[in-house]
Amino acid sequence: MPDILISGQILSFTGDPFTAPPEDAVRIDSDGGLLIRDGMIAEAGPADALAARHPQAERHDFNDRLVMAGFIDPHVHYPQTAIIASWGKRLIDWLESYTFPEEMRFGDPAHAAQIAATYLDLTAAHGTTTMCSFCTIHPESVEAFFAEAQTRGQRVVAGKTCMDRNAPDGLRDTARSAHDDSRRLLERWHGVDRLSYAITPRFTPTSTPEQLEAMGALWAEQPDCLMQTHLSEQVDEIAWVKSLHPEARDYLDTYEAHGLLGERGLYGHAIHLEPRERDRLREVGAALVHCPTSNTFIGSGLFDMAGLVAEGQRVGLATDTGGGSSFSMLRTMAAAYEIGQLRGTPLHAAQLLWLATCGSARALHMEDRIGNAVAGREADLVVLDLASTPAIAQRAARAETLWEQVFATIMMGDDRAIAATYIGGRDVKRAA
Ligand code: GUN
Ligand code: ZN
Repeated sequence: MPDILISGQILSFTGDPFTAPPEDAVRIDSDGGLLIRDGMIAEAGPADALAARHPQAERHDFNDRLVMAGFIDPHVHYPQTAIIASWGKRLIDWLESYTFPEEMRFGDPAHAAQIAATYLDLTAAHGTTTMCSFCTIHPESVEAFFAEAQTRGQRVVAGKTCMDRNAPDGLRDTARSAHDDSRRLLERWHGVDRLSYAITPRFTPTSTPEQLEAMGALWAEQPDCLMQTHLSEQVDEIAWVKSLHPEARDYLDTYEAHGLLGERGLYGHAIHLEPRERDRLREVGAALVHCPTSNTFIGSGLFDMAGLVAEGQRVGLATDTGGGSSFSMLRTMAAAYEIGQLRGTPLHAAQLLWLATCGSARALHMEDRIGNAVAGREADLVVLDLASTPAIAQRAARAETLWEQVFATIMMGDDRAIAATYIGGRDVKRAA
């Protein structure tokens, strides 16, 4: 691949906009440039200077468009792509009515491959370059997703979803098969190219204590893997967990007691947390993943972003496709803003962009590789058009600051705002 010189308004983070004044944590270089070589950001600096030093580089000039790290979505279910936006159910009914019947189909490698390709096409069009996905109980669903991502040179995390109770016939494994299949998949895919494996017990209600124990044992054997699950999403779900585990101090304890609480753990939703749960999650440095479109769509509740960040929790931002109602991380940032408003704590545009890039990279322990448009990181980038529709363009024309423009695109933008997406230095979407 030839060197590429990308120029535009380059946005990078120099700090954490939750601890510094938000705008001070961001650097914006108008007429900035990024030299892309072998899938990496080799150099960053003024575009003119880079062009003079690298006259042979292919030039991709984006003028006043905003060039930044690609979006990172740390909690998705790619197998739910085709049932996104299914009407009228709350969590447990939604799983039984829509999700489980669709997931049943992923034992068929052709179906899994087709949905994996559709999902990765859709997310690239929306500027998402990395995600951490649940698959289904079928090893075929994991093979299909990793194979498709590998072909695209994409950094993804995924794992076989494990369930050995409270799921329909055809969608249950066992404690032993979940352990052995997960280990076999992990040995095959973890660390290959840009792929990583996440140990994936779906959630407490669908795993026996024996299965939770087996997953915990596997994690102890493979401590550099991530572990992903769900935690305290809906009040009814929490009551169910308590009835299944009368011995547990709280929902988190059902994971903790089986070796499933750790720094490399990702806990989706984490809405209705008790004080002990918050303390333990913070002490171990686990990641809480905010899924705002899902939390309103399925009617789950309002994540306490301000409180959790203030107490030092590690937080990421995710779509939760297809419980979430959009593939778009812009739409997801807008929903996070709206939930902040309902809690009286609006988020700054810089905080929203940070959550969708650096914050989610930190949740995945990948902040040294992805999540920021600076030299030395992988060249996963998104280019935002800040006037992508007439409605946004007229608002942007009235804006007095760049942040006002960015905020309008966050609130009103969709895939039309994505002027380009680069994955590993390859432009997978670029307007002519
Ligand atoms: N809890 C257990 N499984 C799921 C799922 O697939 N989606 C959501 N939103 N919550 C879950
Ligand atoms: Zn989920």
